[in-house]
Amino acid sequence: MHAAALEETEAAAFRRRTPASARWHAEARAFLPGGDSRSTVFYQPYPAIMERGEGCRLHDLDGNVLLDFTGNHSSLVHGYGHPGVLDAVRAQLARGTAFPSGTRVQIDLARHLTRRIPSLDLVRFTNSGTEAAMLALRGARAFTGRNRVAKAEGGYHGSTDEFMVSTHPDVSAAGPVEVPRAVPASKGLPAEAVERVLVIPFNDAPAAVDLIEREREDLAAVFIEPVMGSAGMIPAERQYLVALREVTRKYGIVLVFDEVVSFRVAHGGAEEAFGVRPDLTVLGKLVGGGFPLGAFGGRRDIMALFDPSAGRPAIPHPGSYNANPVSLSAGLASLEALDHAAIAGLNRVGDAVRTACRTIFADAALPAQVTGLGSLFGIHLTDRTVRAWRDTVGADLGLRHRLFLALYNEGVLIDPRGVGAPSTAIGMAEVEQLATALRRIMLRLRPSADLPHPVGT
Ligand SMILES: Cc1ncc(COP(=O)(O)O)c(C=O)c1O
Repeated sequence: MHAAALEETEAAAFRRRTPASARWHAEARAFLPGGDSRSTVFYQPYPAIMERGEGCRLHDLDGNVLLDFTGNHSSLVHGYGHPGVLDAVRAQLARGTAFPSGTRVQIDLARHLTRRIPSLDLVRFTNSGTEAAMLALRGARAFTGRNRVAKAEGGYHGSTDEFMVSTHPDVSAAGPVEVPRAVPASKGLPAEAVERVLVIPFNDAPAAVDLIEREREDLAAVFIEPVMGSAGMIPAERQYLVALREVTRKYGIVLVFDEVVSFRVAHGGAEEAFGVRPDLTVLGKLVGGGFPLGAFGGRRDIMALFDPSAGRPAIPHPGSYNANPVSLSAGLASLEALDHAAIAGLNRVGDAVRTACRTIFADAALPAQVTGLGSLFGIHLTDRTVRAWRDTVGADLGLRHRLFLALYNEGVLIDPRGVGAPSTAIGMAEVEQLATALRRIMLRLRPSADLPHPVGT
């Protein structure tokens, strides 16, 4: 079947399956730009709307049941409605949803995280990963007295000005691969914010170290995701993280690991998996157990800047819902259930997903790379080995979209960007369900001679 015809077929089947979502989406557009409040969950022809979830199954407005490999982009690590999380939340709801004071559950979660993550001496809670990254950067600036921040090309650290730079840049604007240019990922960013960003190549230690050395005098922090999430679950190579650790230590630059996505790869996060300790860590998504929560923390001397007890803190940290007890309760219950055995199980599922996808794509002669670490996986429809953002440029995004819709039509949900983060509610039977769906789709995709269209949509 011709590729364009296939898109028609999958989109038409999607429309037939989701008429209620279509109606509600059309209605939503009257009140919300694009019909929603989150750009990353939009896809064509319109995003389906979910009604409820249980374990690893989501039910959309039309009653389609979907095997969910997203967990709300990795945040629901135990799936929907985990009994322990629900009990903790109900108990907290009965006690109160927000107070003009700290709470015991805040202390409990802070103790849990600082015991669990080797580099975390002290921690602060926010409402999102975005806020946590913003405050970690402010902490690094205050600590070093410097202004600039380095981030990897393709890296994402939330939606504040500096971090909306070179998240998925157009290569024609992005300059040489070893000296990438800072490319705004949004309109409306102050030019000075973009100029303050040093973009470093991912997984190219000599080039990254060279750039950091050149800019060392005004560089406050290097932010890095041990597994680049929104770029497509691309893991860092250990020697790259080691090189960043060495150069930042040498020049007194704050090394920040953004573990919003990667925390789940080991009990103590990716820093434990890689054996590299940052100065600060940013957390989000799964730490809130399905509720809005972020956290940042690390070295005692840096975090002391947030301490108000000796007078005015160097860095005030106001926020009406900071450390919200409902989110903290959900997060604590979720993390307590995410013990060593649960992580080992997740990682086995992740390995099985990657292996199944690789085998099926190879059997279908589909040019594809499957990246990831632990339970995180990313599908890139390209014949190029993927070690950094630019390796994904030229991947067949049109085909990726068709694959996404085809999976939906088969009752399986992955992220429209081709990534996934299975929850502990997923076992080998569900991996087999994904594999069966993929095999059926590969039959529809034949002949494979039609496939390698290097389109970027
Ligand atoms: C690595 C990373 N850092 C930070 C963020 C921002 O977190 P939030 O969406 O909670 O603001 C995200 C969100 O996707 C992320 O993937």
